[in-house]
Amino acid sequence: MDFLGDWKRTHYCGDLKATDIGSEVILMGWALRRRDHGGLIFIDLRDREGIAQIVFDPEVNASGHAVAESVRSEFVLAVKGKVIPRPEGTVNPNMKTGEVEIQVLDCKLLNRSKPLPFMLDEHSDINENIRLKYRYLDLRRPQLQSNLILRSQVAQLTRSYLTDNGFIELETPFLTKSTPEGARDFLVPSRINQGQFYALPQSPQIFKQILMIAGFDRYFQVVRCFRDEDLRADRQPEFTQIDCEMSFIDQEDIITVMEGLIARIFNEAKGVSVRLPVERLTYAEAIRRFGLDNPDLRFGMELCDLTDIVKTSGFKVFADVASRGGIIKGINAKGCSTFSRKEIDDLTEFVKIYGAKGLAYVKIENGEWHSPIAKFFSAEEIATMNSAFGAEEGDLLFFVADKPKVVNDSLGKLRNHLANILKLTSKDEYRFVWITEFPLLEWDEDDKRWCAVHHPFTAPMDEDLEFLESDPGLCRAKAYDLVLNGNEIGGGSIRIHQEQVQSLMFKLLGMSIEDARSKFGFLLDALEFGTPPHGGIAFGLDRLIMLLTGSDSIRDVIAFPKTQKGTCMMSEAPSPVDTKQLRELGIRLAEKQG
Ligand code: AMO
Ligand code: AMP
Repeated sequence: MDFLGDWKRTHYCGDLKATDIGSEVILMGWALRRRDHGGLIFIDLRDREGIAQIVFDPEVNASGHAVAESVRSEFVLAVKGKVIPRPEGTVNPNMKTGEVEIQVLDCKLLNRSKPLPFMLDEHSDINENIRLKYRYLDLRRPQLQSNLILRSQVAQLTRSYLTDNGFIELETPFLTKSTPEGARDFLVPSRINQGQFYALPQSPQIFKQILMIAGFDRYFQVVRCFRDEDLRADRQPEFTQIDCEMSFIDQEDIITVMEGLIARIFNEAKGVSVRLPVERLTYAEAIRRFGLDNPDLRFGMELCDLTDIVKTSGFKVFADVASRGGIIKGINAKGCSTFSRKEIDDLTEFVKIYGAKGLAYVKIENGEWHSPIAKFFSAEEIATMNSAFGAEEGDLLFFVADKPKVVNDSLGKLRNHLANILKLTSKDEYRFVWITEFPLLEWDEDDKRWCAVHHPFTAPMDEDLEFLESDPGLCRAKAYDLVLNGNEIGGGSIRIHQEQVQSLMFKLLGMSIEDARSKFGFLLDALEFGTPPHGGIAFGLDRLIMLLTGSDSIRDVIAFPKTQKGTCMMSEAPSPVDTKQLRELGIRLAEKQG
């Protein structure tokens, strides 16, 4: 039997308005709530666009009323009815359709539902794993629906903006070779070529560069990337990039086109106008003032460098660190002198996560320093520090002394943490900043070798080329990140387009010629056939949507996300496979340990 018969839906539940009063409509959706008032039964019928209040009156339609009596949460209904104004005093201004209700003339029960494992209209403290197991129910909640609808809008806007600007949408393979973006690869065994593996792409980096060599000039793709790394609230093992590459351009061209894209997305999807050009900070300045390369500019509390003031002081901890080439920086938690011992201890534990050995503090009370370390400083040193901090009555000053990386990391994170505690930020404020002039390389203590900060195809800045071999750490890159409210939402660079420079880069990274050839031989070959100067960028679509929707987790903007452990609660992937499948792949599993 055809359940719908000749019924055709006329409206979405959520689209009914006062102007529809008097018309006959057919709605289809899920029963969110049912209220039985003896005679009348009210059902809130929900679909993608919202909720309509349906009234079943036994005097008007007895059979429909009988159906309504049997309806439970999430039963699927079709109702034919008349749009009428709600009786005086029952208008609900908080509801899109709050001025109207539907008087049922006929009703069909299209399907039943088992009792739900959790209620959809409860503001949920429900365990996230349960929600993810029943993701199809979780996704029925209006918040998740609107997140994913916005995601679709942004993807469409992106396509239309980039197409208007001459970009061509091209696909690149998923079954491919490793691309170095700093994570582990997901590997796929080949059945036809036993003992050999594809790697899922960490990004389309090499292929998009080869598309430039192939003459496509401007490329984009809204593309899945795969990275086997430790997961966090803003990281998934598979995530989506808006990936772009351009030829015959410089950094300014890329920044200008991409600012246009971001402005268009924020304007059309969110009604927010982004002031262009977006502010810029060099990497060095970001680290100096905020400790991090993804600074949140929605609030102040900048770090101040006290090394010169305290290096000759009587406080041995600070003087020793300074004499060993370390630094001492501080942060002024304005008005926080009332923090308790316990609160300060918690903050001390917090900075230890980032390697700090301690967190010295000073309370400014009655115009004086109250602190276990006050006695080590002269009146003059105290006065100089007060002015460096801009310290005032009621402030709480924090200090960390260590190697620059530890000091900047721990105070940078402490700054964000304090802003959270003190509620200094609003999700409705959007502060963008480009971070430029990143270092090209960083020294990896564990492996005792240089590593690419962005990736090994990033070009050095022309004025720093001279250091490339003599002092690689000094060399800056033509690389840029776009940061929004403390989140890195995109990153890119101008690429190396000369084969000799690319080979030199691999050598600096400690790769033998054979190694470089076996990993990236196809790129090195291609670079020798007339490579145009080129560069690009990739935005993290999931992160962008997370910020646009004010979500706390990237999982709330992905239809079927993985847990922190990389599992899909719904499909139960990953899972064991048949011995037969393994045999076909030529794979034998090692005995399980323990
Ligand atoms: P990058 O590695 O900086 O650059 O990635 C670009 C952007 O992708 C997002 N992102 C992620 N989002 C969710 N989960 C993850 N695990 C994850 N990892 C990265 C971030 C980041 O800014 N090929 C280069 C781009 C280029 O040079 O053109 C690249 O992939 O928002
Ligand atoms: P101590 O001399 O070890 O008792 O430390 C005195 C104060 O300095 C305590 O509040 C410590 O937390 C702090 N402290 C110790 N080492 C450091 C450091 N490397 N940076 C900042 N504060 C420190």
